[in-house]
Amino acid sequence: MSSTPAPNCAPGRLESRAACYLQAASARSGRDLVDNVGLAGRGADEGRGIRIEPLGAGDWPAVAAIYEAGIATGHATFETTVPDWPAWDAAHLADHRLVARDDGRVVGWVALAPVSDRRVYVGVAEDSIYVAPDARGRGVGRALLTAVIASAERGGIWTIQTGIFPENQASVRLHQACGFRMVGVRERLGRLHGRWRDVLLLERRSPAITG
Ligand SMILES: CC(C)(COP(=O)(O)OP(=O)(O)OC[C@H]1O[C@@H](n2cnc3c(N)ncnc32)[C@H](O)[C@@H]1OP(=O)(O)O)[C@@H](O)C(=O)NCCC(=O)NCCS
Repeated sequence: MSSTPAPNCAPGRLESRAACYLQAASARSGRDLVDNVGLAGRGADEGRGIRIEPLGAGDWPAVAAIYEAGIATGHATFETTVPDWPAWDAAHLADHRLVARDDGRVVGWVALAPVSDRRVYVGVAEDSIYVAPDARGRGVGRALLTAVIASAERGGIWTIQTGIFPENQASVRLHQACGFRMVGVRERLGRLHGRWRDVLLLERRSPAITG
């Protein structure tokens, strides 16, 4: 994951940050970003052999370890510690949580959480997606996100949203590749380790749910 700030997105030019972050995402070559996270070696076999399956309580130790590695990047989430299983379980939708297994080993996970308990937002959820460091750049994230989008549509969820730090271009690109659009920049939304962070809001409105 890139840790390089987007160019020209300095404090004081907040009004142009959305355009700036978007330009940065499209201007950087895939090679630059790939090099930042050691993705050399992406090939025709990426994603092959990966099984996407429901996430169960027995997967929690592996899921928690992958979550912890994501937190350690400093660009994945405002969370600084992994919750315990009961807390995580209560916060996420039971029907929309998946793991990716490579030869039986959990190498990634995705889950949806409700954004509100208001009735009108019953079909709006937020995704979390984490891939083990040694499994990134092989199509695991795309396979997981594609699968949870399908699961959401089957379950009547019409919008999936996500908040992404601008520095996390791997996640921005992954979501855009799966049909998410950039809604905008939420400026200095929260502090992580004492530093104010912007958060990009992206969403995918299902074209399949119209009725
Ligand atoms: C973000 C993350 C989930 C991506 O998962 P992944 O398995 O590495 O992604 P994939 O290999 O499936 O890539 C899918 C698409 O994402 C984009 N992408 C992924 N990694 C990228 C990188 N380092 N640089 C640029 N684009 C990247 C590409 O568009 C890619 O499409 P392509 O296959 O046509 O090249 C993974 O990097 C991760 O777990 N990061 C740490 C936790 C985190 O940040 N989670 C997201 C919180 S918002």
